[in-house]
Amino acid sequence: MSLIGKDEKEKIIEKFARHVSSGKVEFFKNASTEFVVGKREGAYLFDIDGTKLIDCHSNGGVFNLGHRNKEVIEAVKEAMVELDIGNQHPISEHRALAAEKLAEISPGSINRVVFGVSGGEAIDTAIKIARAHTKRAGIISAEGGYHGHTGFALPAGDPKYSEPFKPLAPGYSKVPFGDTEALAKAVDENTAAVLFETIPATLGIVIPPDDYFKEVRRITTERGALMIIDEVQTGLGRCGDYWGINTYNVVPDIIVSGKGLSGGIYPITAVLYKDELNEFLHQNPFIHISTFGGAEIGCYAAIKVVEILRREGFLEHIREIASIFKNGFKELSSAHKDVVVEVRQVGMMMGIKMINEMCAPLISFFGFKHGIFTVFANNDTSVSQILPPLIINSNEASLILEALDGCLLDLEKALA
Ligand SMILES: Cc1ncc(COP(=O)(O)O)c(C=O)c1O
Repeated sequence: MSLIGKDEKEKIIEKFARHVSSGKVEFFKNASTEFVVGKREGAYLFDIDGTKLIDCHSNGGVFNLGHRNKEVIEAVKEAMVELDIGNQHPISEHRALAAEKLAEISPGSINRVVFGVSGGEAIDTAIKIARAHTKRAGIISAEGGYHGHTGFALPAGDPKYSEPFKPLAPGYSKVPFGDTEALAKAVDENTAAVLFETIPATLGIVIPPDDYFKEVRRITTERGALMIIDEVQTGLGRCGDYWGINTYNVVPDIIVSGKGLSGGIYPITAVLYKDELNEFLHQNPFIHISTFGGAEIGCYAAIKVVEILRREGFLEHIREIASIFKNGFKELSSAHKDVVVEVRQVGMMMGIKMINEMCAPLISFFGFKHGIFTVFANNDTSVSQILPPLIINSNEASLILEALDGCLLDLEKALA
C-alpha cells in the first residue's frame, strides 16, 4: 500500500489549507508554485504529480545523505526491533554511544553532549549552559542570523520573526557578521556568549573574512565569554570537514548540531560542549529536561550519520563535488555577469548573490521548470541557497549547474 498520492493534488492542497496552514497555501498559490512533495529518493524530490526535481535545499542539511538513505533506514529499523524512545532520566547505553561518537569527531576538549529534538531547542540549551557557567546574561549574535524560533534562540535572530511575540528574553545584542571591530566593542564583562553560525545561511551564505573566527576566539577568551558556534547547517560535512568551524582552525566552547544528525529519518539534535563547562550540569543533572531529546532510536540514526561521515573518501567526495561547482560557478558568473554579483562557497555550502531582492525568489520559481528545488535566503532574498545533498555524483552536479544556467537566463529575460 502506498502512502503517497492517496488524494489528488487539489484535494491535498485544500485539506492542507483547511487544517494546517491557509497562509502557506495562499503564499504558494500567489507564487504559482504549488509543490506537494510526493516520492523522494536520493538527491531527488518528486511533486505529487510526478515532476522530478533535484533537491538543492536539502531542508538546510537534513538530507545531507540524500532522501531515504538506506543505511540510516536500516539502522533505525534495527533499533526499532529492541528499543524505543527511552526515558531520559536514567543512564542510557545508547545515548552514551551516540555521544561518544560525536565526541570523537569534535575538536579540542569538546567531549560532552546534551541531546535535543530541534535545532532551536539545542540553541536554547547552549545559551543556558553559557549563562549558567559564566553567571552572565549577555548574548551577542549576528544581525540577520538565524538560530531557530524557540525561547532563547528567537531573540538572537532577526527581529522580523520575534516582534509580535514580545516581551522577549532580555540580554541580547547584535553585531554585523564579520566585523571584528564591532565585536570587540560589544563583548564586555556582562557577555555570557557570542553566538554565530559559521556561515550564516539565512543571511545569504555570508563568508566571513579569513581571520574572523580567530579574532572571535581571541576576544571571547580574553573577556571570559564563551564562543558558541551554530553548526545546524554547516556541520556534518557540508563545508568539507566534520564541522564548518574546523575549516577556520578554531575550537569554540560549544558546537550546536541538528538537521543532518537525523539522517533525514529520525529527529535528533545535540549541544556539544567542552569538559571545562561541565560543572553546572554536573551539580544540576536534572535541570534541563527534553522528553524526546536523544530518543534511543534517534541515537542510532545519529551513530550511522557519524559513521558515514568518517568513512574513507566521504569528505574527499564532498570536496571533489565542491570543486566541480566552483568551476561551474565561474562559468555561470561570467555568462550571467549582468545578474550575478558573486558566488559564495565553502565546500558544498553555496549561495549565488544576485543584483536585487527579487532575484532569488524568481530563481526558485524558474527552478521548477528547470528541474531543481532551490530556496532563497530569507534575510537577503538576493541570494539563492544552493545546498544539494552531499552524496550527489558529478553528473548530478553538472545537471544542477545546467539548470542554474537555465534559471539565470530566464531571470535575465524577466528583468529585461
Ligand atoms: C543555523 C540554524 N540554526 C538553528 C536552526 C533551528 O533548527 P530547528 O528548525 O530544528 O529548530 C536552524 C533551522 O533552520 C538553522 O538553520
